[in-house]
Amino acid sequence: MKVLFVGDIFGKPGRNAVRHFVPRLREQHGLDLCIGNSENVAAGSGMTMDLADELFASGLDLLTSGNHAWSKREAIPLLKAAHGKQLRPANYPGDAPGRGHAVVQAKDGRKLGVLNLEGRVFMKSLDCPFRTAERLLPELRKETALILVDMHCEASSEKNAMGHFLDGKVSAVLGTHTHIQTADNRVLAGGTAYTTDVGMCGPWDSVIGVRKEAAIERMLTQRHVPFEPATREVYLQGAIVDLDDQTGKARSILRVQERLPE
Ligand code: FE2
Repeated sequence: MKVLFVGDIFGKPGRNAVRHFVPRLREQHGLDLCIGNSENVAAGSGMTMDLADELFASGLDLLTSGNHAWSKREAIPLLKAAHGKQLRPANYPGDAPGRGHAVVQAKDGRKLGVLNLEGRVFMKSLDCPFRTAERLLPELRKETALILVDMHCEASSEKNAMGHFLDGKVSAVLGTHTHIQTADNRVLAGGTAYTTDVGMCGPWDSVIGVRKEAAIERMLTQRHVPFEPATREVYLQGAIVDLDDQTGKARSILRVQERLPE
């Protein structure tokens, strides 16, 4: 099975990149499933039912998220929607709305399990993502050997640790949240595809998607400065993993980066 996973889709520029490139990449690489992290889809922070529908219409089969899952009130009905195609990190405490894991089916019926986790280093004090993975993976494994994990997290060390912790237990551990694509994509010793961050779908002439003047002013003054999405140099970034259907192990992981024509 070949799966495309794209990094944080940032506002309208990110949505445009997804609409332009996902169908082309599906065709070009013979992709079975396309997944993306939608937590920044609503003007850089949060997600809504309408915007998720737009991403599904653009060719994404399932959406993951992260700390910004809760930034828009309109995300709650989306997380509770019957289609179950919008995940939030699985390790939120108590009775958080929605789900953090799901099984998605390709057109030919083959199944991929997806688990969404959020890190805790320089982030909120959530339940342990490592133990949450141990608890939920048996449930996904009952349905399929193919499992992809979105590790949404600030620290490269915590993502790296999760990659090795799950090596040989899942097909891929792919990092999101920093919006900066790393160049360490590889298949680990146990057969798990790994990269610390798959990057961002959004404007590069920015500070991780935000208009750079506003981001710099906030850092210089330490006061609140309203953020808005930047617009220029729009890229789609992500990774394509090629997985063995029988063993669930990864054959390869390819870094993807495409620039939208201006
Ligand atoms: Fe995030």
